[in-house]
Amino acid sequence: MKDILDFDRYPLDREGSAEWQQLVEQSIAALEVDGMFNLEGFLRPGVAEKAVREIRPVMAARSHVHKRMHNIYFKPDIPELAPDHPALRKVETISHTVCADQIPGSVVLAIYEYEPLLRFLAATMGKTRLHVMQDPLARTNVMAYRAGEALNWHFDRSEFTTTLLLQAAERGGDLEYRTDLRSDDNPNYDGVARLLEGRDPEAKILRMKPGTLNVFRGKNTAHRVTTVEGERERMIAVFSYYEKPGVMFSAEERVGFYGRAA
Ligand SMILES: [Fe+2]
Repeated sequence: MKDILDFDRYPLDREGSAEWQQLVEQSIAALEVDGMFNLEGFLRPGVAEKAVREIRPVMAARSHVHKRMHNIYFKPDIPELAPDHPALRKVETISHTVCADQIPGSVVLAIYEYEPLLRFLAATMGKTRLHVMQDPLARTNVMAYRAGEALNWHFDRSEFTTTLLLQAAERGGDLEYRTDLRSDDNPNYDGVARLLEGRDPEAKILRMKPGTLNVFRGKNTAHRVTTVEGERERMIAVFSYYEKPGVMFSAEERVGFYGRAA
């Protein structure tokens, strides 16, 4: 793993050392302030490109194209809102997904399963332990977005999302987010409507570099990936970890997300 991850910068291999502890504390502080932390240069030079070379043929030939209109909640309706409320404005998401079972032996899966990474992430998230997901499809997904495609505005279902950017688009394909747009007890529908109308001055854009590990708290922070422009597709690995071992999707969920049950 020392040829894949930059342990000089990010000492995941020296768990419990003073420099490991310092990295954990910096990451926790960034989560508090920004709702995310970024480990730029997490991958050693050339590793993101290698990962892309492994995945590109599968992405080109066998990825699942998911195209849908949705609202920011990914729900058909919100009982307390009229169907024409501007917070329910529909947006379009298009993505191409490669599942973990399609990339056995890949560098991306080796990183996903690397135990010291799980222990580091658990420490930053204040969890006793994290486990890899058991679901053979969902455990790791690699998503691609091509010219004209975007992951549109949404809130995440999970408390944290862990991603590794493998390839950036020439232009666009940036993470745009609005920190704490809602809270667990205030849905702030008018604020949601304002954001969707492009009138929220607190929305920020983050341009990430390939090889960056990003941990993001997206449950109450609205976010999207802006529309990709140019020939090069944006490619990002999404790692799913749980506090419980053995988590699986149902067959219905697999069909919904990937177009196949197995
Ligand atoms: Fe998200």
